[in-house]
Amino acid sequence: MAKPRVGSLMSEGVLDGRTELRPGVGELAGRALEVLEANWLGHGTRPSRLYPHQWSWDSACIAMGYARWNQARAETELRSLFAGQWSNGLVPHIVFAEGNGRYFPGPDFWQTERSPEAPANVKTSGIAQPPLHATAALRLYRLSADRKRATAFLAELAPKLHAWHSYLYRERTRSGEGLVEIWHPWESGMDNSPLWDEALARLAPTEAQIPPYQRVDIELADPTERPTDAEYDRYVYLVGLFRELDYRADRIQDETPFAVQSVLFNSLLVQANLDLAEIARVLGDDPEPFEAWAEQTAAALDARLWSEVDALYVDYDLEGEAHVEARSAAGLAPLYAGVPTPERAGQMIERLAGSRVEVGAAGWAVTSLPPDDPGFQPTRYWRGPVWPILNWVLQRGLDRYGYPLLAAELRQGLIELSRGGFWEHYSPVTGAGHGGESFAWTAGLMLDILSIEHETKGARMEDAEIALGADGTSMSSHGRRE
Ligand code: SER
Repeated sequence: MAKPRVGSLMSEGVLDGRTELRPGVGELAGRALEVLEANWLGHGTRPSRLYPHQWSWDSACIAMGYARWNQARAETELRSLFAGQWSNGLVPHIVFAEGNGRYFPGPDFWQTERSPEAPANVKTSGIAQPPLHATAALRLYRLSADRKRATAFLAELAPKLHAWHSYLYRERTRSGEGLVEIWHPWESGMDNSPLWDEALARLAPTEAQIPPYQRVDIELADPTERPTDAEYDRYVYLVGLFRELDYRADRIQDETPFAVQSVLFNSLLVQANLDLAEIARVLGDDPEPFEAWAEQTAAALDARLWSEVDALYVDYDLEGEAHVEARSAAGLAPLYAGVPTPERAGQMIERLAGSRVEVGAAGWAVTSLPPDDPGFQPTRYWRGPVWPILNWVLQRGLDRYGYPLLAAELRQGLIELSRGGFWEHYSPVTGAGHGGESFAWTAGLMLDILSIEHETKGARMEDAEIALGADGTSMSSHGRRE
């Protein structure tokens, strides 16, 4: 396999296996757990003050963060999210915690009661988010102190995960090719990424087509770090359209003016299928249907979304009938799911430099938009900042393809950034945190990163074993002290 060009990133070997213990890791994990505790709602965890409900892929990351420390809390997190699952299998991107803080669009705007498939007793949104849930459930099982209990939890969740993936393959694919599509930028999880600019520019809704609305986010957060009003008009227009169609997937697929096959979404789905297959094995069930889904989507990603010129996978705009022009580190996500051949993986890693920034003396990270892109804005949401999720995905891909030093340096970059707090995202120029502070999925992902460090390098985690206790389970009793 081709070796990556690591240049100045390969520094003093802080995390290359020669250094045993890094002081401070325990304290960092403790602070991450405090962030999760501060955002705990009693049944699930809000991402932050700006987002006062449960978000789908956030909760998956948060559950992974809890996993090593509080098995009960990790289970509760996923159980609570899946209480919002629709009867058609959709896991909605928001499960509302009623009466809990200001947020737009809230349940009154979504009006999901228009669909007979929405749950009657839980308020939710009507769209999806990337499918990280089977991956989180398997991670939870693997990190569990009580395997019997974890197996019972997997048995409880597996049919729901199956229904979720069935929904995606039944309602979100066309022509049987195995790539699922998103119908709203919020479904990508990367709301205002330039990846959606062309598709959104085509929408041009008239004023009459945009339901009346008032943003709350720009009252609670710096507007320069949020999407623009023009983008919100389009987000709201699309929700209005889905609402008018009573959230009927068949009608939305026919009528939505926004439909994109997202590389990140599909890559996470490939891995989630592989993880669901593994869950089936643990439970003595048949893994084959999930492996078949994984293979089908992986083959389609490789055949339809690979760009040889860019050495990157690129999204496909179904309405515009063209590959998306913008380039982002999200295009590296197939590494995470084992999609590319080793040769392609080598090309991708050689070329990822454009999205890479150095962090501290020994770390690096990828940005949400390459710094040399004319549209790069270092602190505006998905138009430049470093997001932990993209980096978490990439470090797993680097390990998977046999680049452990690069993976460790990337984790070191994230550790360095989070020493300044668990922020929603970070400026690639200054390293400072932006967006929301005390952000739960950043904390959750960092706990998982620290768990990986613990597994691979023996870094200390014991110091972080503080008790959360809110659901009656002491965290410290779950510490897997090897
Ligand atoms: N991320 C969106 C928001 O900013 C919703 O999913 O509210």
